[in-house]
Amino acid sequence: MKHLLTLESLSFEEIKDILNLADQLKYEQKHGIEHHHLKGKALGMIFEKSSTRTRVSFETGMYQLGGHPLFLSSDDLQIGRGEPVEDTARVLSRMLDGIMIRTFEQSEVEALAQYGSIPVINGLTDYCHPCQVLADLMTIREFKGKLQGLKLAFIGDGNNMANSLIVGCLKTGMSISIACPKGYEPPQHILDFAKDFPGKFELTTDPLKAAENADVLYTDVWASMGQEGEKAEREKAFAGIQINAGLMSKANKDAMVLHCLPAHRGEEITADVFEAHADEIFEEAENRLHAQKAVMVRLMADKKPE
Ligand code: CP
Ligand code: NVA
Repeated sequence: MKHLLTLESLSFEEIKDILNLADQLKYEQKHGIEHHHLKGKALGMIFEKSSTRTRVSFETGMYQLGGHPLFLSSDDLQIGRGEPVEDTARVLSRMLDGIMIRTFEQSEVEALAQYGSIPVINGLTDYCHPCQVLADLMTIREFKGKLQGLKLAFIGDGNNMANSLIVGCLKTGMSISIACPKGYEPPQHILDFAKDFPGKFELTTDPLKAAENADVLYTDVWASMGQEGEKAEREKAFAGIQINAGLMSKANKDAMVLHCLPAHRGEEITADVFEAHADEIFEEAENRLHAQKAVMVRLMADKKPE
């Protein structure tokens, strides 16, 4: 693994290795065991969109690993004034040891990796959110003790979260059902990817059908960052695409609920269900820290821990 640009490029073994290391780093952090695997290393964090979890988890994670994080807002960088990504990549590669980027176009992340010579980590694009899904898989495994054979139902937009969840679940032996309104499906090549996992993938417009016998229910905002102008039209299209008590009754009795956050109570999830599953949802948020530390160690450490 040279970069983390999408989950498609990771093998099952690599995903399992990251999850195992994340568990170990979580244990070490909770027990005060020093784990300075990135001593003397610097990570640049480019943000072209807002963030709470991604920024704080990368920044704190880098500090806990003994390295130094630099927050680089596109409002301040020359990239925001039109400096080509090819040049930014070559300059940053001479000063830093890794780059995390949150932006709109997946192609910008790919270009940074192509023109730079240091590891690039995708901290969310319009296309995917691999760091989030690694934390999600870690959380499911923590609560359920396994991934293989479980069913996740994603109730919402066929967006970056849906795309990465489809890839992450199918690669780790889970099955996944997506319920989204017509016209908001995941892109064709993600649907094509899912075709290689017969019987493990379902796409429907009916949330109740998707939730049947689910072990994990997952949702995300109706309008992602950059889609604020479509909010009214999306509110109409997504009415009823919600995790609520009725939907929970279709899932397995001990089903867990996850949300990448930020959440909009009364839209994609009711306040009651959110609060009933707050322990799972906030453990998931915390696990961003541990999962990302594992990714940074695997990509940036000189001496890889066992
Ligand atoms: N889930 C997530 O990526 O949160 P932020 O947008 O706050 O980083
Ligand atoms: N789909 C959301 C995820 C936020 C973490 C967005 O892109 O805004």
